[in-house]
Amino acid sequence: MNATTARLDAWLRTTFVEHNTTLEETYFAAGVEFLDDPALDADKHVLLHEGAARAGAVDALPERIADRYELLGMVGFVLGACRRHEAEDAAVLAPVWAAAQRLGDSLGVAPRYVFGHQAFFNTARGDRFRTFTTLPDEATFVELNGLGVLAYGNAAAALRQIPAMGVSNPMAAHLLDAARVALEQALAFNQRLAREVPIDRFFRNIRPYFKPYRVGNTIQRGANAGDFSAINEIDVLLGLCDPNDPFYASIVAEKIPFVPPEQQPALRELGAVGTLRARFETEAEAGVTPHLRDNAQRFLAVCRAHGAAYAFHHNALVKPFLERPAAAAPPDRFAVLSASGPPLEEVIALLERLRVLRTARAPLRRLRELLA
Ligand code: HEM
Repeated sequence: MNATTARLDAWLRTTFVEHNTTLEETYFAAGVEFLDDPALDADKHVLLHEGAARAGAVDALPERIADRYELLGMVGFVLGACRRHEAEDAAVLAPVWAAAQRLGDSLGVAPRYVFGHQAFFNTARGDRFRTFTTLPDEATFVELNGLGVLAYGNAAAALRQIPAMGVSNPMAAHLLDAARVALEQALAFNQRLAREVPIDRFFRNIRPYFKPYRVGNTIQRGANAGDFSAINEIDVLLGLCDPNDPFYASIVAEKIPFVPPEQQPALRELGAVGTLRARFETEAEAGVTPHLRDNAQRFLAVCRAHGAAYAFHHNALVKPFLERPAAAAPPDRFAVLSASGPPLEEVIALLERLRVLRTARAPLRRLRELLA
């Protein structure tokens, strides 16, 4: 880390979190997710001016991709906080936009911070990774979200190894069980999140930092916990989603600039090895042997676990944490409540379509019949 980055890092871990936390506590006490109150201008001024001075000074790009990506997240934290507190000034932020753009271009990613920066490219020091505030609920949210993403990653890593060994391979049983257990863990982390993170804190003090923000002339869409490749690898390997279906293809293509650089190839190559479901069907048509039957049952259990985890996301996270509080927000704030950019109703309809695909029973009917 050079001196400029070290200065930005030190500031993000101290002054930045202090002012954000003061503002969040004030909004929370007033029962709103934002306040335009002159008494708060001094805090907002520090975030904008001190943040821009430090993030805008970023010049030399780190050599290692991971360090460069982490630095993009640090610069993005400044822009995310300025947007969140509506303390934006084009002239002041121009050098920060330039730094973000240079970092994003050099990595082939969107020039903004994403969930991967919060959870995975964020070096902890003395037990703490960088957060926007010192609110314990924010750290819990990032941690449980990150654990969910790691669990999906473990499920994808297990499934990825199966095509090369064949679905009737006795060792595939172990990988299918590992994938199921990982998806059950993803569900358990999501259940903990629903239990441990208070909805009002999430809605008023955590989610607002995920909003879209401007970098130069372009509004970069908001961050969300779904920006990782593993869930799509699972969808397609299981045969529940088709990468050539225009709806699904558009979701994947849109996501590519927002996942960490090393995950982009997996999204570009979705479907290249076909699906496990098709492999099970093809083998079963030729005859249902003992290991094939056993593995197919385990495969169906993986599909059920995937559907259950995602249905929970929809019914117990998206709806209570976002849809219901948004419906109760004042009409003038409603327009800025969706993180990704499109209106909230559209985002929720899109997520509902994904829920239907991931929980569908029809694609598995043929395999069930072959096993009967
Ligand atoms: C309170 C917690 C959460 C809420 C309210 C929530 C809400 C949302 C929303 C609204 C989107 C659509 C994109 C956007 O506009 O932001 C989304 C996408 C997504 N979220 Fe969450 N989410 C939460 C936690 C999680 C967790 C813990 C995971 C799993 C690790 C997860 C996985 C995904 C995935 C994979 C997507 C991308 C769309 C898809 O492929 O289904 N989310 N989420």
